[in-house]
Amino acid sequence: MLVITKNVTKKFLGTKVLDDVNITINHGDKIAMMGPNGAGKTTLVRAILGFYHVDDGEIRVDGFDPVKNRVKVLKHISFIPQLPPPVKLSIDELISYVAKSSSLQEDHIYTESQKMNLDLKKHGSKPFFKLSGGMKQKLLIAIALAKKSDLLIFDEPTANLDPKGRENFYHLLSKIDNKCATLFITHRLDEIEGLVNRKIYMDLGKVVEDEKI
Ligand SMILES: Nc1ncnc2c1ncn2[C@@H]1O[C@H](COP(=O)(O)OP(=O)(O)O)[C@@H](O)[C@H]1O
Ligand SMILES: [Mg+2]
Repeated sequence: MLVITKNVTKKFLGTKVLDDVNITINHGDKIAMMGPNGAGKTTLVRAILGFYHVDDGEIRVDGFDPVKNRVKVLKHISFIPQLPPPVKLSIDELISYVAKSSSLQEDHIYTESQKMNLDLKKHGSKPFFKLSGGMKQKLLIAIALAKKSDLLIFDEPTANLDPKGRENFYHLLSKIDNKCATLFITHRLDEIEGLVNRKIYMDLGKVVEDEKI
């Protein structure tokens, strides 16, 4: 298995935000994760990525503790955050940085961007944070897909995309290697129904539903 969370509990200011969460993600799982705002979805993802220590229980990614082996763990995961980070680098600089640090080819990022209808050549010298919300999202998607990962995590990836952008995105997803596991946090199950084989529903920090579909 790729990811395992065992009895994971995480508190913020004394309040349980994750409450005894047990989830296993296997190669090839395509998961839609749903639940109301504040359910703990983003916190769970950030814990899997090693951004947070948990208060109880344990998380393993490929057998590794994601906090202690963050670099190793992140090597095989592509993650698109809910809010794009406020990166000051220009598009050119960002792509060159990402390509070097994740040892992938710049060309692949440009190719994936084109598939998302994002013309990077036109915006090369612009700082990332000055792109529109949807353009940022498209570039992050292109980077995530260019990096051949074992696990793709998307935290509400289509929230800022126009309808055509969404369509392109879903089309690209339908072509991802079947062995790659995907975790989508989304409020739009209807849109990704054909792309997932499992749904997980969270509420108040607990997994209240986890079933194959
Ligand atoms: N860094 C933080 N510090 C304090 N509270 C936080 C922090 N991150 C998230 N929370 C709280 O944890 C709860 C779950 O948040 P989150 O995981 O973002 O929910 P979701 O992604 O399901 O909407 C919310 O009540 C939120 O306010
Ligand atoms: Mg969230």
